[in-house]
Amino acid sequence: MTKDVLYQHVYNQLVPLLKKENPLLSKLSTIVALLHHKMNGFFWTGFYLLSEDHELWVGPYQGPVACQYLEKHKGVCWTAILNQKTIIVPNVHEFPGHIACDQRSNSEIAIPLFVNQSIIGVLDIDSKNFNHFDNIDAIWLEKILQILD
Ligand code: SME
Repeated sequence: MTKDVLYQHVYNQLVPLLKKENPLLSKLSTIVALLHHKMNGFFWTGFYLLSEDHELWVGPYQGPVACQYLEKHKGVCWTAILNQKTIIVPNVHEFPGHIACDQRSNSEIAIPLFVNQSIIGVLDIDSKNFNHFDNIDAIWLEKILQILD
């Protein structure tokens, strides 16, 4: 199955599960569970969420234990938040300020999470493969997160 077809399946499965009235935590947990187990090469899949004092703390995730807190304003996730746009990193070791929660990660994508048009965090996915993520991932992951906006 191509990546496009896999994402289409994940998307179709998510739409009826992510009911508007459901608690946000339930919806975020379901998104990471499905993505992590259905997509290929996802080593770590999870959310970092902004707290009231604008700090980034780990939210629902799947994969190895991750950094609980991301130092301001360093690394891939903060860059996605501050620019309010998706960041694709083909080689994390070349990204200035990259925060390595697990040395085995080699590429990464971070997508801002908007709820009611406000940014509340970021969906972050790591792969052990270099250059794992491309525009197809960006388009589908943004489309998935749009279900929550
Ligand atoms: N690499 C991220 C930190 C989170 S972990 O990848 C799970 C960053 O630079 O923001």
